[in-house]
Amino acid sequence: MHYLVTGGAGYIGSHTARHLLRPPGSRVTVVDSLVRGHRQAAERLQAADPGRGTFVQLDLRERPALADLMARVRPDAVLHFAAFTLVGESVSNPAMYWSCGVGGTSSLLEAMRAAGVPRLVFSSTAATYGAPERMPISEDTPQRPVNPYGASKLACEEIIRGEVEAARRERRDFSATMLRYFNVAGGSDDGLRGEDHAPETHLVPSALQAARGMRPALQLFGTDYPTPDGTCIRDYVHVEDLAAAHVDALHALRPGSCEAFNVGIGRGFSVREVLAECERAAGRPIPVEVAPRRDGDPPMLLSDPARIMSVLGWAPRHRTLGPMAESAWRWMQANPRGYAG
Ligand code: UFG
Repeated sequence: MHYLVTGGAGYIGSHTARHLLRPPGSRVTVVDSLVRGHRQAAERLQAADPGRGTFVQLDLRERPALADLMARVRPDAVLHFAAFTLVGESVSNPAMYWSCGVGGTSSLLEAMRAAGVPRLVFSSTAATYGAPERMPISEDTPQRPVNPYGASKLACEEIIRGEVEAARRERRDFSATMLRYFNVAGGSDDGLRGEDHAPETHLVPSALQAARGMRPALQLFGTDYPTPDGTCIRDYVHVEDLAAAHVDALHALRPGSCEAFNVGIGRGFSVREVLAECERAAGRPIPVEVAPRRDGDPPMLLSDPARIMSVLGWAPRHRTLGPMAESAWRWMQANPRGYAG
């Protein structure tokens, strides 16, 4: 099988690309603009198995170049990760999120259609649900995004759904799966991949940076939420388990199918619980500075993972925070400056 992975030089895309190369004989072409992705992540993939991993630097909105590439590679399936992913940034620069998300996705779908590529797994997000009151969140929970990041991902889901319906009517073979991620953390089992964002805003790497003295303190955004310890609760999934979910989703695609699955473990952890686990992994205290609530943070986001478990047979290997904090710490200790180091 030959897979084309957009955003394959980014955090989740690079972990998934490595999983896709595991079966002997499989091939992966990574497409990444390198605006947020890392050339070194793509190079590590190529080095893991020379000849089976290829890297092409391209923005998906470069339509003719993408169409050429798709026609040349003719992959069996596309896994589409390329996107900007910061909620706060999407609020201050919505046009950038709509252009990259919707522009990139529609260009990709056109190229796939022209080349007759039949399978797509799309990287969606729990942010498409917004801030629902009832927990846990199932796939049937109404999607009411509260920021441009979630809204643009939901628009991409709708475009993809429309493409599957059009293909069904025209008796073309095209199917898609949307994976709606909750919070993702951790690094790869082999220590070669991990989280490297600039600026880093996510809780686990930010806390570990504070543990290493790379920032003065972890700012704890809000201690007055209606939760047992007053801090926000999130559902964290290990990045290796999330990568495995993509492989399961690929295997389950059937002609004409269009499905969405939540990817979370179905357990919530508060910010204070995450910090305690990060301190354990780092073996040192983390300086914390209590700060006001961050705009747009819902008190609790908790996934109901029943559907992905029963339909895809996906089961997370890690159901606790420990392995996520430990693998993230190992990655940061070995690569304090991320891939650039
Ligand atoms: N937090 C802090 N201090 C920090 C960073 C985070 O207290 O320095 C808190 C946040 O307020 C939040 C929790 O830690 O309560 C988790 O925050 P993250 O920034 O790590 O993750 P988010 O829940 O904001 O966002 C994640 C993904 C998004 C996705 C969203 C889905 O990063 O891409 O989940 O709901 F949209």
